[in-house]
Amino acid sequence: MAIITIEMDSFRNHFKTQIKFNPGLNILWGQNGSGKTSVLEAIHTLSFGKSFKTSKHQELLTIGDELLTIKGNFSQKETKETVTLHQNKKGERRFRVGDKRVFGLKDLIGKNPVVVLSPEEQAVTKGAPAQRRQFFNKMFSSISRPYAETLVRYHKILKQRNAALIQIRDKKEKQDSLKIWDEHLSQEAISLWKKRQDLFNQYNKELKKVLEGFSDDEKLNLEYQAPTLKKNTFLQKLNKTTTRDITTGQTNAGPHRDDFNLIWDTKNLKKLGSQGEHKITLILLKLAELFFIATKTKTTPTLLLDDLFAKLDSDRSQKIVKLIKKFEQKFQTKIQTIITTTDLISLEKSGIDTQAKNTKTLHLKRTCNA
Ligand SMILES: Nc1ncnc2c1ncn2[C@@H]1O[C@H](COP(=O)(O)OP(=O)(O)O)[C@@H](O)[C@H]1O
Ligand SMILES: [Mg+2]
Repeated sequence: MAIITIEMDSFRNHFKTQIKFNPGLNILWGQNGSGKTSVLEAIHTLSFGKSFKTSKHQELLTIGDELLTIKGNFSQKETKETVTLHQNKKGERRFRVGDKRVFGLKDLIGKNPVVVLSPEEQAVTKGAPAQRRQFFNKMFSSISRPYAETLVRYHKILKQRNAALIQIRDKKEKQDSLKIWDEHLSQEAISLWKKRQDLFNQYNKELKKVLEGFSDDEKLNLEYQAPTLKKNTFLQKLNKTTTRDITTGQTNAGPHRDDFNLIWDTKNLKKLGSQGEHKITLILLKLAELFFIATKTKTTPTLLLDDLFAKLDSDRSQKIVKLIKKFEQKFQTKIQTIITTTDLISLEKSGIDTQAKNTKTLHLKRTCNA
């Protein structure tokens, strides 16, 4: 997969901006505030239906403007397609693939995959369990329709069960009415856990391969174990927590409470990891994501690297560049990469030839017109 062109209008600080990309390496450079991250955000929005920086759609529309447009041309193996987003002041959005309207994001997600590495994503290693669940849910949903559908069904039933808990707490319903929800919920929970465990195991293999490509210094271990794969065991667990569930109006057990543990050299990364360890962990997770999606879908995602090389030591950044090259050789493919940076020197130090013939370098100015 590759993005060929992107057009943005009334999107953050972009007005009628048009950028052409090449299939290999693309470098967007310019001062802070020149709109580099916004370009990556626009691409991500056409890929996933939302930004990686905010869930508030309204923020994307240029202040004072009426209608935002993003239009991207993507190429797959043999085909090309245009994805368009129009969004008005109220935040109402309309996606189109070609001239066909997209009604559910599941028809968008996974078609033109991208993997983004940005400072915002650091929450995956530093944040609450929900941040890690979101990372895995997003990745697994983008490669597996059954996973995406089970996840949606599970959350729908969870919501209904929680509503029933509140009704019972307020004495508007009898406790017996929970039975039907417990039955449905446990069915979807087991189905989700099975799929999650299976996809996780496959992903973890890719991560191990990425680690092998690095040196022995990177001692990362990722762990996940579904609490149970037996429906009756989960039903029993639900029964045990019913009283608490009714008091809190929330379901206290299930896949929505899962966590994925990151261990760095026997230590819990989240509690004890240094800044550098967090940063490299995110990079390793994201490279594994890229290789995992590529292996599973036979489509190589576009890699979006936002300000990545700025604060990374050159030893590690050189390794990243080498690992990407190794992957390209092994699979005889190009990983389309879009890098943003304030200066070209830090890229040169990482072993990136910014002057190479097939590298596209674009300078963005504050007034912004590429
Ligand atoms: N909704 C908006 N309306 C107008 N300007 C915006 C909006 N959102 C962001 N901006 C501005 O757009 C600029 C682009 O920021 P960004 O893409 O993060 O630049 P860079 O990554 O090059 O530092 C910033 O100066 C920001 O203040
Ligand atoms: Mg930026």
